[in-house]
Parts: sequence; C-alpha cells; structure tokens
Amino acid sequence: MLSARFSRVSPTLAAFRTVSKTKQAKSATAGAIAYRKGIRYNSTAALYYPNEPKKPQAVTDSIPGPVSVELNEVLGEVFDNRASYFVTDYDNSIGNYISDKDGNQLLDVYCQISSIPLGYNNPELFKTAQSKEMASALINRPALACFPPAEYANILKEGILAAAPPGTDKVWTALSGSCANETAYKAAFMYLAAKKRGSLDFSDEELTSVMNNEAPGSPETVILSFDKGFHGRLFGSLSTTRSKALHKLDIPAFKWPKAPFPALKYPLNEHSRENAEEEARCLAEFEEIICQYPPHTIAAIIVEPVQSEGGDNHASSVFFQGLRDITIKYDILMIVDEVQTGVGASGKFWAHEHWNLTTPPDMVTFSKKFQAAGFYYSNPNLQPKQAYRQFNTWCGDPSKALIARTIYQEVVKNDLVTKTASVGDYLYKELDSLFKRHPGKAKNLRGEDYGTFIAFDCANPTKRNEFLLRMRGAGINIGGCGDFSVRLRPTLVFEKSHAAVLLSAMETTLQEL
Ligand SMILES: Cc1ncc(COP(=O)(O)O)c(C=O)c1O
Repeated sequence: MLSARFSRVSPTLAAFRTVSKTKQAKSATAGAIAYRKGIRYNSTAALYYPNEPKKPQAVTDSIPGPVSVELNEVLGEVFDNRASYFVTDYDNSIGNYISDKDGNQLLDVYCQISSIPLGYNNPELFKTAQSKEMASALINRPALACFPPAEYANILKEGILAAAPPGTDKVWTALSGSCANETAYKAAFMYLAAKKRGSLDFSDEELTSVMNNEAPGSPETVILSFDKGFHGRLFGSLSTTRSKALHKLDIPAFKWPKAPFPALKYPLNEHSRENAEEEARCLAEFEEIICQYPPHTIAAIIVEPVQSEGGDNHASSVFFQGLRDITIKYDILMIVDEVQTGVGASGKFWAHEHWNLTTPPDMVTFSKKFQAAGFYYSNPNLQPKQAYRQFNTWCGDPSKALIARTIYQEVVKNDLVTKTASVGDYLYKELDSLFKRHPGKAKNLRGEDYGTFIAFDCANPTKRNEFLLRMRGAGINIGGCGDFSVRLRPTLVFEKSHAAVLLSAMETTLQEL
C-alpha cells in the first residue's frame, strides 16, 4: 500500500480549486426535481445525486491534509491505520465523490477497494437503512441457521438469489470475501468425502483421527489455485492466495497445488497466436498437475475471472472453458471467485457470464459490491448431510441481505449493468488514444468490452506509485494492484461526465510523469 503521508501536490491541483458553486447548484436543482417527480433521466447519477460535484475540489496543498494527519495520529494509537490514505468524511461524500476531513472532494475510482456499487449516500440505500426491518435486523441480529426470521427466504429471493448466476439457485451466506471462499472450500471437501463414503456413516477411525488433525478424519484433500490469484487472508483462503509474499509470510499454510495463469501480451489483437499458445501451455500444465494427484484428492479449483489484486490479469473464454472441461473430466469442482468482479462492473452482472461456459461453475463466491457475502450453488449435495457442519454463529447477516436486495433492485431498475458496459467502452477507447499520446508511460491496457473493469501498467513500481500519488493530488482517488498496475473500480453510476474528469486528470498527470 502507498504511504499516503508523502503525497506530492500536482501543479494542476490549483485548477481543481475553482469550481463554480453556482453552476453546480443549477444543475443540481434540475436533477432534484426530476428525482422527486420520478422522471427517468439518462443520468442515474443526476437522479440520485443532484448535488454531486462536477469536479474534484482541493482545499489543502497535499492529501492527506493537516486534519487527516492529526486524526490519523489519534487513531493510530489504538488501531493499525498505516495503510490509511486519508481520514474520510462519509457524511459529505456523495455519489462518485469521496470527501476527506480536510474538506477535499475527490472523484473516487477505487471505491473502498471495489466495494461501493451505487455511490456514497445513495438515497435508496438510505431508505432501506432507515426502515423498520433494518432496525430490527441490526438490533436483533439472528444466529441465522438456528433462529432465522420469517422474512429471510423472501429477502434472499428478492435480492441475492434474484441475482443468482445462471445455473445456480441456492446460496450460503457468509461474512466476508475470505469467509465466502472458505465456506465454499468446506462445502467442496465435505462433498468429496461424502461421495467417497457413499452410504456408509463416519468410521470410528475417522472420528478418532480427526481429533488429532490426522487422516483419515482430517484428509489430505486439497484446493488448487492459480499463480497470482487472490482469495483472501484467513487461513484457508490465504493458502490459495498467491499474489504477494507479504500477505502470506509467517502464516502456516496448507500444502496445496498452484497452477500457472496465462500471462497475456497486449494489445490482444497483435498477439493472438502467442496468447493462444500461452493459454494452451497453462491448460496443459494444469492438467499435468491434476494428474500428479491420486484421483479424488483435488476437491476443487478456485479461479477469478480477472486476477484483481494480483495485477488485473485477464484470460480468454477459451482458457476458462478449457478449465471447466478439465475439471469435469477429472470430477473436480470449479469455484469461481467473483468477490471483486461480481455485481455489474464487468459489463455483465457476473463476469463469468462473459465466458458462455457449456456447464455452469459448481460454486460462485461473492462479496464487495453486494455488501453481503456468500456462495451460490445448485447441487444439493454441496450442503453437508448433517446440520452444524457448515456453520458459525451468524451465518451471514440479514441487514446486509437487505442492503443487497436494494442494490440488486436499483441495478435492475436503472439498467446499470448496460450503462456500465457502455461507459466502459467509451473509457477504454479514450484511454487507448490517451496512452498512444504518451508512449512508454502507460501500457498493456486491459478490459476491452469488460465494462469499467479496466487496468493498465506503468513502467515500474516506482512510476506506478508516483502516478497514483499525482492523481490523488489532481483530485482522483485511484488504486493500484499487482506490482506496477493501476486498476479502475468506479461505481455503477460512473458516467461519461465522470470519465471526462478522470481522463483530463490522467492526461495532465501522464504529461508530468
Ligand atoms: C477476488 C477476491 N477474493 C477474495 C477476497 C477477500 O475478500 P475479503 O477481503 O472481504 O475477505 C478479495 C478481496 O480483495 C478478492 O479480491
């Protein structure tokens, strides 16, 4: 993570200080009237956020400003905040703009590590938050598996399950992205063991050995993941995470296998032959690794549609279909980790819908933009035969399921996936020509036809970090990934007008870099 304390102010900062408040107020009024009357505007952001700023506003010479620095010092005494960019003023953040406690307002294309779907202080989410059912969900938080509220089935059906990826119709709710993946792993392991056991009950040997963390009760079965993949930081998920050593150091890990993920060359259309060969090589090695294990030892593979934390690495549909075919051939489950790619940003509600798989994945995990977390599935055998085996105190959170329902309904009502696909196409094309104007400074543009899930590389890690800091100085909150990549993760109400602000800041920053 960048050290936020040393941000240098871009010479262009001053330009962002002079926003005409009158102009903002006028367009705000039109939006406000339309919203109250329920008039359909092309701009969902204008409907939701009549007072959304038109541009970033900077009031301090550097970000974090003095108030942020002081508040962070106080917080730092009791909470490890060394990754803090600035202290946020959530009350004054609005739509696509995040405010800090110094009064700076930045266009946010990082969005709480890719987890804000509809913008800050969304009016519809406010309504949900202020409802009686939300108050009850918050103050009477249920142990969902033991004492579920009567409404839980409907809340799921109208929200999280209404959004279920094709071929899935059940969900297990969890607490975070890591928790979603770990519960999916548990489902896979118990499914495999039950299949091997057939109609037999647990043996005495299993029941005894498991209490010593030994086989056969605690078997040598594994989850296979991919080089540079990221699946979380709890013990099980961390064993499948392969993005950065720092994330894994000092933590005991399962000795689980890792397969190569294609390293594609860009632009794609100029490297189709090499890229096809690279994907074929990775698929062959994947199959070879599988063959090194006794049959029915690999319970599942887990793969991201785009390896996000690991550097926004893409692969083609052919590669993912190849993975699916091989998992079916060897009777291995396929888990698709949509924690970061899910909920619209890719221009499809679920990114794996881009692949047109002949058979749907066995499990799809989600979190982030859905605010709730969990995994989807359809095979009833992925639910263990006995209760209390896939279990914890809360098993999810109805307050988050209520928020997820509103998110889903708003996404559908406002056609936000289609709109994201369209603004993403515009942004991709503009970035392509921008980078051609600044050769060598930004390269390997990724995310064509992939909504706003766009990324690119800088020349090296130092230049990437400098780029991110200069962008912040120019009023854009933007994040990196991998060693030298920059990723865009705006909201689903990021529109052409916001893209224009981003592009203009990038043009100036690239000139300065
Ligand atoms: C693809 C993917 N999986 C899992 C996780 C872990 O989610 P969480 O941080 O909520 O545990 C992340 C977080 O960045 C992620 O990007």
